[in-house]
Amino acid sequence: MSEHFDVYGGARLVGEVEVVGAKNSVLKLMAAALLAEGTTTISNCPQILDVPLMADVLRSVGCEVEMNGDVTRITTPAELSHRADSPAMGKLRASVCVLGPLVGRLKRAVVALPGGDAIGSRPLDMHQNGLRKLGATSAIEHGCVVAEADGLHGAQIWLDFPSVGATENILMAAVLAEGTTVIDNAAREPEIIDLCTMLTEMGARIEGAGTSTLTVEGVDSLHPTEHRVIGDRIVGATWAFAASMTQGDVTVTGVDPHHLDLVLDKLRLAGADVTAYDGKGFRVVQDGRPKAVDFVTLPYPGFATDLQPFAVALSAVSDGTSMITENVYEARFRFIEEMVRLGADARTDGHHAVVRGVERLSSAPVWASDIRAGAGLVLAGLCAEGVTEVWDVFHIDRGYPAFVENLNRLGARVERVTAEPDRVVAE
Ligand code: EPZ
Repeated sequence: MSEHFDVYGGARLVGEVEVVGAKNSVLKLMAAALLAEGTTTISNCPQILDVPLMADVLRSVGCEVEMNGDVTRITTPAELSHRADSPAMGKLRASVCVLGPLVGRLKRAVVALPGGDAIGSRPLDMHQNGLRKLGATSAIEHGCVVAEADGLHGAQIWLDFPSVGATENILMAAVLAEGTTVIDNAAREPEIIDLCTMLTEMGARIEGAGTSTLTVEGVDSLHPTEHRVIGDRIVGATWAFAASMTQGDVTVTGVDPHHLDLVLDKLRLAGADVTAYDGKGFRVVQDGRPKAVDFVTLPYPGFATDLQPFAVALSAVSDGTSMITENVYEARFRFIEEMVRLGADARTDGHHAVVRGVERLSSAPVWASDIRAGAGLVLAGLCAEGVTEVWDVFHIDRGYPAFVENLNRLGARVERVTAEPDRVVAE
């Protein structure tokens, strides 16, 4: 038996929805708690599957983790284990973010290779090269990253690509290294700023958060802190696309609209009336069918690859033809095959997709291949004639707290159903 969503087509989303803390921030902040002995408290945590999974990862190296509503308390002992190889490691990508803190504190780590979404090749070469520059050895052995150092020292590190995870791991090792580390071509995502803010609260010395050059002065030790996670811009943007696609009127709170400047501007080009409320949220009102817009994914402040499925779904029901270019994860266009099942007129060529908008999609059973693809299929189902079954919804549960409840509160009809799938997905 497995779970799917029945998504009833023809919805118009209207109302207000609150966004809580960002998945891609909280998981890294939880890893950062390893850097300081004592109890770190993180609030505004989303209630999604990945948070308890990350808690299991931290427990496996000796932490106590207590989750109470939106507050997670992590008690890190003086003596940590350097081995992070619990089964939870393989269930999410962010588990690899314990590597930097373990090497920073213990000067050695054995960290099982992470899992995560099937969205394309996700190597760790930049993580490893960064640690090597800081003075550690790093190799992949028996399915684990093994890193060891006599001591870590500051270094000048140039990243080939502004990788989010590599920036985070190198940063979390460098905060306890001796001397100055400069990370050039660092990722600039708001979640990186959030991590730098928390590390600074813990006593780290970091300059340049939010720019492509991070300068870290190593310190001897860090102390625990209390920190509130920033709102999830990807979830916020999901609601923004949902409003536009369903020709609705949705106010989104709990997310900084400046984290979505480019996204909201795209929706304005699609014909939406968008009002931003400084630091608080935004409202998207779409009157009439959206107009086709082109999208190009790039690291922040470019259009996030995590929003590409929504760009495709919006284009599928827009008036006109859109070109969507994926520059970060080559396999993310797998989502388009499922959109075609729903009647989308779309084709891909390398890392470009051309989508010709149709007036109405038509329902079909479809399969989520990752978190965002799953949410994208639900939004498409809202614009399809009939009842769309979206399968493998555990992906969606990894990233969207109370997704079904929120959709229904906004006027959609979506039901979570436990049943036997009647179609075997082709490999
Ligand atoms: C983070 O993954 C997010 N995950 C992803 O969100 C997001 O899609 C991605 O950043 C890009 O924004 C988490 O934060 C847990 P990267 P991450 O390192 O850190 C290549 C979601 O839906 N690369 O910035 O793994 C890599 O192959 C998820 O919430 C290397 O070549 O992403 C990719 O092409 C899915 N070598 C590009 O860099 C490396 O050592 C960006 O990856 C590291 C990365």
